[in-house]
Amino acid sequence: MKDVLSLARQQETWRLERCINLIPSENVTSPQVRELLASDFGHRYSLPVHDEIHGSFVENAYRGTRYLDEMESLGEELARDLFNASYASLKPLSGHVSGLIALISTCNPGDAILVVSPEDGGYDGYGPEYLPKILGLQVHYLPFDRERWNLRVEQARRMIEEVRPRLVILGASLFLFPYELSPLRRACDATGALLAYDASHVMGLIAGGEFQRPLEEGVDILLGSTHKSLFGPQGGLIAARGNLEEQLESMTWRALDNAHWNRIAALTQALMEAREFGKDYAGTVVKNARRLGRELDGMGFAVGFSQEGYTRSPQLLLEAEAIRERFGLSLNDLAIALEKNDIIVDSVGRIGTNEITRMGGQEEDMVEIAEVILRCAQGENVAEDVASIRQRFSLSYAFEDR
Ligand SMILES: Cc1ncc(COP(=O)(O)O)c(C=O)c1O
Repeated sequence: MKDVLSLARQQETWRLERCINLIPSENVTSPQVRELLASDFGHRYSLPVHDEIHGSFVENAYRGTRYLDEMESLGEELARDLFNASYASLKPLSGHVSGLIALISTCNPGDAILVVSPEDGGYDGYGPEYLPKILGLQVHYLPFDRERWNLRVEQARRMIEEVRPRLVILGASLFLFPYELSPLRRACDATGALLAYDASHVMGLIAGGEFQRPLEEGVDILLGSTHKSLFGPQGGLIAARGNLEEQLESMTWRALDNAHWNRIAALTQALMEAREFGKDYAGTVVKNARRLGRELDGMGFAVGFSQEGYTRSPQLLLEAEAIRERFGLSLNDLAIALEKNDIIVDSVGRIGTNEITRMGGQEEDMVEIAEVILRCAQGENVAEDVASIRQRFSLSYAFEDR
């Protein structure tokens, strides 16, 4: 029987040293982030005691947390700074859990929420069968224009006024372009709704100042994963402006018991890296995505939204029908053929440039990557060329390893 350490070594050699990874939900972390994931913080607890009489959380139930407390404050301060928030917490264990915390902090059973439909790229965790089902919430889908891959803002504004939801959650799993937020903010103000923004796929761009700045543009709660365009460990964060701090903090301790402090230490380091290198990284992620889009589109992959420059985010969308017509492949067939050649994509046609950028990829590399994708779709074996492109790359936008 194989031991798990040898499986991890094989995984590292393949995925970290040989593959070109174009999955938009993933990224790679620095050596310091990886060291912190293995640190003593991962053996420890820190947990406020709940005062049943007053319903609030009081002093720490655990001793021995002096360095941990300092580390937590440092991480939260960095997150407040990067996202321009008055409150930030790195405790949510994942993007999904950050969404759960936002919902239980703002909604009661029977309330309505407005979200982006999964058919328009929205996250299915906010769909009627997932978190809203557990919490007894009614889900309505925001009007969406698939030609521009963006909200129909005027109709969405009217929908907020008619439905009068408790919470509107913007953001999506296929997230290409920023939203016009001010009309939605005004509609929320007029009806007393709160506005949340799931930034899972664009967190690293927001931190680098490359996408929109949701909290500055009127959003109440910013939430999401920390390991997609942001190059942190797998996990979540939540940030807010206004007077939601107490509610969010108290509901966080109802949604989880142990915040996994090694992950929080690792995320703190990733936020430091984002503060130092995030602008350059985020700008390159978007340039790379747009260039890869242009190259692939020119080769017959029919990348969506050419008239909009393909994307303003790390993501691109391949159009299934055109790929079937041009190459005789479904998106899943294409993903399998690419995997055999060490190019990793998902099976729904999303392509992302987070990781390849973090590995140092620049616009001119996108031309070569598009070429190997094309040859692979035409049935050629390109694994050796992939390996030689891959060998040129090394982790970038990180502090020197000591
Ligand atoms: C928009 C969006 N929100 C939330 C999540 C869930 O994030 P996590 O996997 O970190 O729980 C995803 C998943 O990829 C997502 O695309």
